[in-house]
Formats: sequence, C-alpha cells, structure tokens
Amino acid sequence: MMGGMTESAGNAADGTGRVVVVTGANGAAGQAVTRRLAAGGTRVVAAGRHPITWDDERVTPTAVDLSDQAATRAWADDVAARFGRVDGLVHLVGGWRGGTPFPDTDLGDWAFLHDQLVRTVQHATLAFHPHLSASPAGRFAIVSQHAARHPRQNAAAYATAKAAAEAWTLAMADSFEGTGAAAVVLVVEALLTDAMREQRPDADFSKLTHVDDLAGAVAALWDEPAADLNGTRRDLS
Ligand SMILES: NC(=O)c1ccc[n+]([C@@H]2O[C@H](COP(=O)([O-])OP(=O)(O)OC[C@H]3O[C@@H](n4cnc5c(N)ncnc54)[C@H](OP(=O)(O)O)[C@@H]3O)[C@@H](O)[C@H]2O)c1
Repeated sequence: MMGGMTESAGNAADGTGRVVVVTGANGAAGQAVTRRLAAGGTRVVAAGRHPITWDDERVTPTAVDLSDQAATRAWADDVAARFGRVDGLVHLVGGWRGGTPFPDTDLGDWAFLHDQLVRTVQHATLAFHPHLSASPAGRFAIVSQHAARHPRQNAAAYATAKAAAEAWTLAMADSFEGTGAAAVVLVVEALLTDAMREQRPDADFSKLTHVDDLAGAVAALWDEPAADLNGTRRDLS
C-alpha cells in the first residue's frame, strides 16, 4: 500500500491539482514526460518495476509489475485512494524484438512483445478506467510506431503487438465517447535522446522524435477538448 491520506491539492483546471500516472517512468521517454508534467504543476505517480529517486516533490515513485493483473488493479485503486483522483494514464512501457527475415521470426519474440506491449496496456487500462472516467478530463495515451499500420517483414511480431495495442486503445476511446475522457495513440518512428545525439553526432536523426517533444505533446493533451482528441492517432514524427 502507498498510504492512506488523500494528497491531491490545487486546481485541476490549470494542471496544479491534476494527478497523472506515468507507467514506464524509468525509461528515457518516461523520465522526460514525468519531468514535463511535474514542471507544469501536475502530481505525477511515476511507475516502474523498480522505484527510482526523483528530485521533485511533485513526483511520487511507485513500483508495480504491470504483467500481474491483480497487482495492477490493487495498485491503481491504491493510487486513486491516496491522491483522491486520477486524471491521466500515460503508458510508456516498451520492448522490441525483431531483425530477422519473416520466415525466421521467433514466436518467442511474439510472446515477449505480447506481454510487454499488449498485456501491460490491457492491465493498466482496465485498472484505471473507472478512475479516468470519474475525472472531469481523464486522458489515456500510448506511444505506437508506424509499423502498426505499415508492417515490415523484419519486425512482424513488433508490428502486430503495436497494432493490437492501438486497437485496444481505440476500443477504450469508444467507451469514453460523449464523456470528458479521451484515449489517444501517439505515433513515432523512433524516440531520440540527448545521449543518442552525443554518441552519434553525425547521424541523421531527422525522422526521430525527441523525448522532450513527446513530453510536450503529452502535456498538451489536457489543452484540447476530449471530443476533438478521443480516438485520434497523432503522428509526432
Ligand atoms: N524507443 C523507441 O524508439 C520507441 C519507438 C516507438 C514506440 N515506442 C514506445 O514508447 C514508449 C517508451 O519507450 P521506451 O523506449 O522509453 O520504453 P522502455 O525503455 O523499453 O520501457 C520503459 C520502462 O518500462 C518498464 N517496464 C517494463 N516492463 C514492465 C512491467 N511489466 N511492469 C512495469 N513496468 C515495466 C521498465 O521499467 P523498469 O526500468 O523499472 O524495469 C522500463 O524502464 C513505449 O511504449 C514504446 O513501445 C518507443
């Protein structure tokens, strides 16, 4: 358990009372999104399999294994009880397998990607759906890749898993129709970090999306009416 008292305070309309859960918060994208939301005054529940230390009192690190449905549901209810509300779920759990010609695809890779890219989305969304629905402006977002709609033979399992995660997100969007909540798919070719630029200063990263730009797009989700946002697929590349 994370604790008993309700910790939400401030004004949800300007972001200072908002509570947003970021899963995969320990990754490069998760760290950028967490920092950006917290800088805007949002209380961020930063979830990884292992909690890390954040030097920002608006960020609460938590640990959860999103492959465990019962544990995920208990954790989500605990977050909602502790903070009194949940206004967003930004799902940034990743994983990649591939690199072989289609006939050599290892279905072990499919099993891994299904668990990482589909199951964790299912468990997290089912757990937070009631809480996002109760928010005046609940938001859910995943980050997908162009392969979901344009599969390549060298990453068949990855493309299939991302396509499934997109379909699941759009089904959730359908459940939000006519409410203040919205579910959205953000699409990138790949994510870029400063470390990648430093390691390969001469590389062409023009098709990649910097994690800070992704963070900006996530923060802007609350600036747009749910009716305009819900069920959309936004290309950030
Ligand atoms: N990187 C790219 O180029 C790219 C391209 C297209 C789409 N995306 C998507 O963008 C998002 C962020 O990508 P990323 O590369 O930053 O992700 P990532 O580093 O692969 O994963 C982020 C975090 O997910 C956590 N995680 C893994 N399994 C988990 C589980 N069962 N329960 C709870 N947490 C778990 C890990 O936390 P711990 O460290 O605590 O284990 C990890 O740090 C992902 O959804 C990814 O699919 C990324």
